[in-house]
Amino acid sequence: MKRLELTEDLMTGIKEIDNQHRELLALGNEVLFPDSGETTDRDILKVLNFLIKYVKIHFDAEELLMECNGFDRLEGHRKQHRRLRREVEGLADRAKQQGTVKGLANELYYLLHDWYIYHIREWDKAMAVYTSKTFQTFKKTVPEPEDIEFNDFEI
Ligand SMILES: [Fe+2]
Ligand SMILES: [Fe+2]
Repeated sequence: MKRLELTEDLMTGIKEIDNQHRELLALGNEVLFPDSGETTDRDILKVLNFLIKYVKIHFDAEELLMECNGFDRLEGHRKQHRRLRREVEGLADRAKQQGTVKGLANELYYLLHDWYIYHIREWDKAMAVYTSKTFQTFKKTVPEPEDIEFNDFEI
């Protein structure tokens, strides 16, 4: 497993979306590669919980962007989001039941890897190309990562 990175080829060119992708990967890295020593299972679960909430915020933002712009592949994209959310939420439920992400880290890694390599490259970039012309509507509605309070998401 290596750290998840938002490389140049994964940039959509939409600042808000790219910032959210970067934040999601940073959260994924926090869960997968916790600082050795001080980090407890509870800390990791808290980050995982925040990641789940952030995934929802991000997917909602993209779906709103596509709706506002009449994107013709919206339903297919939405289906992808639903599947990814189901998988990541299922994994988080199991982690919470166990009280640890130990034993689930590989699964989370491959899930995030699939999302950010395949989904961003195939789906988010297509969405960005299509919507780049009528982007004004969207700019007002998307929260920046720093607008979302970490402490809103206690476990
Ligand atoms: Fe997406
Ligand atoms: Fe995305």
